[in-house]
Amino acid sequence: MSSLSRRDFICASAALTALATVPAVAAAGIKTLANGKTEIDLASNTALNSVGGVVELSINKYGKIAVVRTSKSSKGFAVLNLSCPHAGVIVKKVSSGWICPPPRGHGSEFALNGALKGGLSSSSLKPISFTATKKAVTIA
Ligand code: FES
Repeated sequence: MSSLSRRDFICASAALTALATVPAVAAAGIKTLANGKTEIDLASNTALNSVGGVVELSINKYGKIAVVRTSKSSKGFAVLNLSCPHAGVIVKKVSSGWICPPPRGHGSEFALNGALKGGLSSSSLKPISFTATKKAVTIA
């Protein structure tokens, strides 16, 4: 087992501190459909009008998730499970995407679409299947 020097620890902590988290925008207009699916009304979530917009919500089936606008296409979204694949810590939004925050998390970084950028996680944030129309994103 390798040990982390005090200097390495301080440098890593400073780098993580520089990635200031961005306050989450809570999703609004959430409806549970009769078939158990979750519908997120786009008119109620103006953050999703722009590419790069994000809203977060919790669903019993998945826990904490995020809906991300990835393109202007009517189907241009990603829905991500925000549980870090490494050890399950909930990732936080930063200007460049997502980070697994210390002290419980170990600093893995992910792109806004959930793709792994680096760190101890060996995989990207888990995508959740959905359908999208001009009016709503529906999560299975
Ligand atoms: S729990 Fe996220 S990097 Fe370890």
